[in-house]
Amino acid sequence: MPDSAPPTPSAVDTVRASLESRYSSATSLPTLSAMTSANGEENSMMATLRSLYLNPHTALAHTVQREDGTVTYAPGSRPYPPVRLLNPIEKKRVLVTGGAGFVGSHLVDRLMLMGHNVICIDNFFTGSKSNVAHWIGHPNFELIRHDVVDPILVEVDQIYHLACPASPVHYQSNPVKTLKTGFFGTYNMLGLAKRVKARFLLSSTSEIYGDPEEHPQKESYWGHVNCIGPRACYDEGKRVAETLAYSYQRQEGVDIRVARIFNTFGPRMNWNDGRVVSNFILQALKSENLSVYGDGQSTRSFQYVHDLVDGLLKLMNSDCDEPVNIGTQEEFTIDEFAQMVIDLVKKENGICESKVVYMDALQDDPQKRKPDTTKAKEWLDWEPQWKVIDGLRETVKYFKTQLEDEL
Ligand SMILES: NC(=O)c1ccc[n+]([C@@H]2O[C@H](COP(=O)([O-])OP(=O)(O)OC[C@H]3O[C@@H](n4cnc5c(N)ncnc54)[C@H](O)[C@@H]3O)[C@@H](O)[C@H]2O)c1
Repeated sequence: MPDSAPPTPSAVDTVRASLESRYSSATSLPTLSAMTSANGEENSMMATLRSLYLNPHTALAHTVQREDGTVTYAPGSRPYPPVRLLNPIEKKRVLVTGGAGFVGSHLVDRLMLMGHNVICIDNFFTGSKSNVAHWIGHPNFELIRHDVVDPILVEVDQIYHLACPASPVHYQSNPVKTLKTGFFGTYNMLGLAKRVKARFLLSSTSEIYGDPEEHPQKESYWGHVNCIGPRACYDEGKRVAETLAYSYQRQEGVDIRVARIFNTFGPRMNWNDGRVVSNFILQALKSENLSVYGDGQSTRSFQYVHDLVDGLLKLMNSDCDEPVNIGTQEEFTIDEFAQMVIDLVKKENGICESKVVYMDALQDDPQKRKPDTTKAKEWLDWEPQWKVIDGLRETVKYFKTQLEDEL
């Protein structure tokens, strides 16, 4: 063929071009940090996400209780939120274990809006169907009631393994089960990743650093955990989960990612799980006193859930197979944080008569917690975009609607 003749497109090129003109590209999808910028389309994605937790709607919108003691459930009339129409080559089958929990349900929302096929597995120990009810029946979504302590076979491309109770009240209520979830749950999901050749992301935790002697905590720090204390079932469960992940990588070549998540808050947190943020907001909304365990001088850094989900998505789709801290560097004493919640609720509600009351410190409660997030910045180009106060405002609104629904 002479040099000047245009190349004839192959059949594959033709099909690809036709697909590209019809579908969105997964690679061009904004993360939520970009969605919050001053860009019209991106802000509308944020508005969609917000509507999913502030004005939740379910597939069953109407419940009519009748005099004969029966109930009629009528299907809701609101359409599902719009999802991207992805090029089938880029559309992934994604498994989220613990997808009906606090973090998991936000991750499910994002993956669904991105246009992927999402399978959510949950045993509803601390999660709830209502967190993902707005997707039930959607052609891209499946919800499976299953306990990860038992094996399961599903064909997927990526596994986000989040299934594990995260609040001390819940994980300490059945420490043996927590350890079984940490070990057998992770073992089963890694076995699945090996079998179906899926990439596997473990949601690990800053708790693997225990009560740290190094501040802020870098990923290279080995931790300071009391292996027989009341928190050990969770901390050691996550430590062995990391060991399992790296053993599967070395021995079986499983493609793994490990996120060390620091304290996270946001809508859909359980309000009865004793975590600092939900406790404080609920107590302030009811004008009850805020219970601070210890002298209020221990520090925490709380990240907003949308930032965490950005980090998980970026990590999963990166080449980084080392553990990565995902958390914020904005650090507060518990006293400062309590005051911030009181001031915010006073501003939102016009009234809040709460004061801080001090209780005995909890055993093995870490004194300081703050991540070094240099690695996330350098490897993932990830940094938190939400100020704590903005996330708090959003969470207060959510808890307010929850309280009103209760009344
Ligand atoms: N929220 C945080 O501040 C935080 C911090 C560090 C790490 N993490 C990790 O992130 C993940 C999600 O945490 P979260 O805050 O959303 O907690 P969550 O309790 O709201 O969610 C956990 C979900 O896993 C489900 N689950 C628990 N055990 C299971 C089992 N054996 N089989 C199937 N499903 C099971 C629960 O029902 C729930 O839906 C957890 O792995 C947690 O360790 C969270």
